[in-house]
Amino acid sequence: MAGPRAVALLALLALPVPAAAGGPAAAACDVPPDGRFDCGPERLLAREGCEARGCCYAPAGPGPGPPWCFFPRGYRSYRAENLTVTAGGYTARLRRVVASFLPGDVGSLRLDVGLETPTRLRITLRDPARPRYEVPLATPRVGGRAATTLYGVQVNQDPFGLVVYRQRGGQVLLPFPSRRDLVWKRDLAPAPAVNLYGSHPFYLGMEDGGLAHGVFLLNSNAMDVLLQPSPALTWRTTGGILDFYVFLGPDPKSVVRQYLDVVGFPFMPPYWGLGFHLCRWGYSSTDITRQVVDNMTAARFPLDVQWNDMDYMDAKRDFTFNKKSFKDYPEMVRDFHRRGLRYIMIVDPGISSSGPPGTYKPYDEGLKRGVFIQNATGQPLIGKVWPGPTAFPDFTNPETHEWWHDMVKDFHNQVPFDGMWIDMNEPSNFVEGSQDGCPNNSLEQPPYVPGVFGGRLQAGTICASSQQYLSSHYNLHSLYGLTEAIASHDALLRVRGKRPFVISRSTFAGHGHYAGHWTGDVSSNWEQLYYSIPEVLLFNLFGVPLVGADICGFVGNTSEELCVRWTQLGAFYPFMRNHNDHGTRPQEPYTFSPAAQAAMRNALRLRYSLLPFLYTLFHRAHSAGETVARPLFLEFPKDPNTWAVDRQLMWGGALLITPVLEPGKTKVSGYFPAGTWYSLAGVCAPCCTAGSQVAARGACASPGQWILLPAPLDTINVHVRVGHILPLQEPAFSTTESRKKGMALVVALTLDGFARGDLFWDDGESWQTFERGDYTEILFLATHVSDGGWRGASRHGAHLDGVLLEAVTVLGVTSPPRQVLANGVLVSDFSYRSDTQVLKVPVSLPMWEQFVITWF
Ligand code: NOJ
Repeated sequence: MAGPRAVALLALLALPVPAAAGGPAAAACDVPPDGRFDCGPERLLAREGCEARGCCYAPAGPGPGPPWCFFPRGYRSYRAENLTVTAGGYTARLRRVVASFLPGDVGSLRLDVGLETPTRLRITLRDPARPRYEVPLATPRVGGRAATTLYGVQVNQDPFGLVVYRQRGGQVLLPFPSRRDLVWKRDLAPAPAVNLYGSHPFYLGMEDGGLAHGVFLLNSNAMDVLLQPSPALTWRTTGGILDFYVFLGPDPKSVVRQYLDVVGFPFMPPYWGLGFHLCRWGYSSTDITRQVVDNMTAARFPLDVQWNDMDYMDAKRDFTFNKKSFKDYPEMVRDFHRRGLRYIMIVDPGISSSGPPGTYKPYDEGLKRGVFIQNATGQPLIGKVWPGPTAFPDFTNPETHEWWHDMVKDFHNQVPFDGMWIDMNEPSNFVEGSQDGCPNNSLEQPPYVPGVFGGRLQAGTICASSQQYLSSHYNLHSLYGLTEAIASHDALLRVRGKRPFVISRSTFAGHGHYAGHWTGDVSSNWEQLYYSIPEVLLFNLFGVPLVGADICGFVGNTSEELCVRWTQLGAFYPFMRNHNDHGTRPQEPYTFSPAAQAAMRNALRLRYSLLPFLYTLFHRAHSAGETVARPLFLEFPKDPNTWAVDRQLMWGGALLITPVLEPGKTKVSGYFPAGTWYSLAGVCAPCCTAGSQVAARGACASPGQWILLPAPLDTINVHVRVGHILPLQEPAFSTTESRKKGMALVVALTLDGFARGDLFWDDGESWQTFERGDYTEILFLATHVSDGGWRGASRHGAHLDGVLLEAVTVLGVTSPPRQVLANGVLVSDFSYRSDTQVLKVPVSLPMWEQFVITWF
C-alpha cells in the first residue's frame, strides 16, 4: 500500500530569489493579492511559522481574501535536469531543491511530456523509484509524437516550471491555476462550496477571440482545486501521480471531444430512456404503484418508465422484495410491459450483513466469493446503511462483477426490470468509517486533508485505509460509483441482451460511457431549479449527457408554480424524471390544478414531439463525442456574452430554451446570439396541440441581445435557430406508441434559403446498432435549386417502415409560393402566411424512401 504523500504542482516562472533570513527578500514577496498562492493550506500560520517555510507573510483583514502566507516569486520546489527528447516528446529528472512543509517529499521525479496528437499533450510526473497508484482508466495508447502541434512547450529548469502556449499567437495556457471546488465524494444534499457526489477533475478555459483549451488531471485522490482571480488554478491532490492532459481545441466543442477521446464517448441510451420517468420514495405497495400509473393514464400524461424506490424491498435489502406489500411485484412489472411501459427500481451497494447465515444469498455468496471491501484485519468492513449493518462490494475486483451479474440475473428472473437506479454509491455510510471506527494510520489521518465537508476523509463514508482489490480505498474512493456503474451496465447487458440503462448518483471521469446521472437530493426551491441548468450543462461537458435533476425538487414540499416551471425545464433535461422524497406533498403531474396540469401536459407533449431530434443528438454524442444539452458558448464561442449564460440551455446547435426560474414571473429575459430565432410554439403541428401562433419573424437578434419574452405559466420559450431542420413526431402516451406515429419537419431557413438537419433511427434498444450498421441516418437538406424551389432528401434505411412524413413547416419563406410539389405531385392544400412567412405543407410520404419537396 503506497503511503500518502501530498503532491502539489506549482509552476512559478519568475527568476529564483534566494530566501533571506527571516523570510524571502522583500522583492520576492511583492506579489499582487490576486496572484498569491497559499503556502499554509493546512493550518493558520503566524509570521514565524510562515517564514520558516520560506514563504511571505502579509496579513489581510478577516474573512475570505488572499492567503496571508504565500509563496514568494521564484520559489524553488524542484529543479529540472537531463532534459531529453524521447520518441513521444520529452523527459527530464526533477530534483527537490527545498523540503516542502509536508512529510514524504519525493526527492526525485520523472517528468514525461507526450506530444500525443496535434491537439493533445500529456504531462506526467511519477516517482521512478517507487511505483504509485495510477487511476485504472483505459486511456489511448500513443506511440510516437505528433509532427505538428497547436501547442508549444517550454520547460524552465531552475526553478522547474512548465509553460504550455498556443503556437499561433503565443497565448500562454499553463500555468493557469476563490471559488473552491472540492473533489472527494460524499452523500450530501447539493449545497454551494461542499463536496458533492462526483469527481470530474477537468476544466475548460475560454480565451480571447473564442478559442478554448481544456485540462484534465487524471487522478482519483481527494483533492482541492482552487481558482484565484489572477487567473490561476491550484490542484492539490493527496496521492497517486500527476497525470495531466491538455487539450488545445482550438474551439470549445473540440476541447470536449478531445477530452472524451481520452475518457470515452457516451453510451447510447435506449429510446424509451428519453421518455418521461416517474418515481417517489413512498410508493409503498404494488397497489399504490399501479394506481400512480393508472392516474397518469387517466389524466392523459405521457409516461415511459415507472420507478420504485426502496419501498419494494424486504427489510431494505437489495435483490429482495416485500412478499406482502409487493406480493404481485413480478406481475405488476409484466403488466407495465403489456401497457408499453418500462420499469426501473433502486439498488444500493450496501449489502445487508446481519442476517443469520443461509438467509440472504447476496451476502452469503459475496462472502464466499470474497467480493467485499476489507478492513484492517482482512474481514469485510461493516458499515451501516438502510438495512442496518452492511458490507460494501468491491467493484474493482473482477469476481465482484461476476457476483453482481449473478445477483442481477437471479432477481431479473423473478422481476423483469428494464434498468437500474444505483444510489448511495459514494459510497454512503451512516456511521463514520465502519461500525468499529477506523484504524489510526496515515491513510486515515493524512498530513493534509483537502477541504472536505466534515474535515475527515471517513465522514459519511467508509475507512480510507480499507482494502480493495486494486488498491486502498484512500486511492479508489472516487471510483466507487463508476466501478459500480460499469458492473451494472455489464450485468444488464448480459441479462437482458439489450442496451443497458443505468442511472447513478456518484460519478467519475469516464462515467458517461456506461451510465447516466441524476443530481441527487435537490431541494424543492427556486434556487435549485436554477442550479440544475449549470449542472446539466457541466455533465454534458463531462461526457455524461444523460443527466437531469429531480423534477419539482426532492427534499421538502414543492409548490404548484415551482412544479410547473420545473416540469417545463425538465422537459429539456436529457434525462427527465420527477422524483420525490417520502413524507412530502405529492408532486405527480395529476395532483395539481387543471391549469397546472394543462401546462405540464404541454411541456411533456412538446418533449415527446422532439424525441426524434433528441435521440439523434444522443447518437451524435455516442458516435462523435458531442454534447446533447449544450451551453450557449459552445455554439457561439466568439460572442463573450454567451460565456456566462447559465439560465438558458441549448439542445444541440438548433434549439434555445429560456425557462422561467423565478416565482411570480410571466416574462423572462434571455440572451439571443446574433441571428434569427423562431419561436417553436405552434409550428410543430400536427405534433403540438397548443394552438399558439408562430412568433412573427422570430426573435431577430443582430448583434446578440437580451430579449424580454412573454412567459405565462403555460409557456416555455423554445426557439429554433435558422439553418436547422428538426425531425419531430406526433406525441403519444409512451414512446412505444409515439415511435409509430407520423413525423414532421420544422425547417428554419437562413436568409439565403438554406437549412440542414438529420435523423438517426434504429429499433431503439438493440446493442450497438450503430457499430453493426443496423440503423438509418437521414440527411435533410433545404437549398435553392435551379427552379427556385426547395429540396429535402433522405437515404433509404432500416426500421422506418410504416412511418410517414406528414407535415413540413418551413419558416422564413419570404414570398408566397405559387405551387408546391411533393415528389413531383401537386400539393393543393398547403398554406402560407405572409405576416409570419410560414409555409405549411401537409404530405404523406414514406420516411423510408427518398423524397423531394419543391415550391416556387
Ligand atoms: C437517496 C437518493 O438520493 C434519493 O433519491 C432516494 O430517494 C433515497 N436515497 C432513498 O432511496
